[in-house]
Amino acid sequence: MEIKLKYDTPKEWANQVLENLDEFLQDHADAERKVSTMCMSIIAKYPDRTEIISELTQTAIEELLHFKQVYALIQKRGNALDGVFKKDRYLKGIMPFIKTSRDGRFLDRLILASIAEMRGVERFKLVSEAAEDIDIKKFYGNLYKQEFAHVNSFLEMGMKYFPEEEVEKRLNELLEVEAEVVEKLPWLPSIH
Ligand SMILES: [Fe+2]
Ligand SMILES: [Fe+2]
Repeated sequence: MEIKLKYDTPKEWANQVLENLDEFLQDHADAERKVSTMCMSIIAKYPDRTEIISELTQTAIEELLHFKQVYALIQKRGNALDGVFKKDRYLKGIMPFIKTSRDGRFLDRLILASIAEMRGVERFKLVSEAAEDIDIKKFYGNLYKQEFAHVNSFLEMGMKYFPEEEVEKRLNELLEVEAEVVEKLPWLPSIH
């Protein structure tokens, strides 16, 4: 199933990230930690969905590893985690459109995870292309390829429990929602 974002981030977006790179790294570390937690929380809420527990656990591990790598970059730049947690305006904008029924929410969360991964792929790539610092260029150049694997992985988890047409239809609806939300958000040194 092809996933194409319905709003393309202009490449100039990366300029303000590179001007505030330390702030961006803080936000990014936080995002990796949160997606790892989200995978484990799906397992906790849906222990009956046994076919995806192993894949969710694997993804949680990979995201934690990304956290570890971003933290190493923060340390290498002579900084520490600042303990400041910014409001997640991206999720806050999309959550009102997420279904509330048990099954509906299950599928929506997986689809939203896939879309958020795709947005990460897009933006990590922009950062990598614009960066002059070789550590940053390499790190984000590798990372976006790894996150790309998660895009499909979350959709496939959904398709283990829902027909492909239903997943595709809902994917398109949520892609519309995501695009509208992202387009309206001010540019900040954060991944979403
Ligand atoms: Fe990640
Ligand atoms: Fe990911």
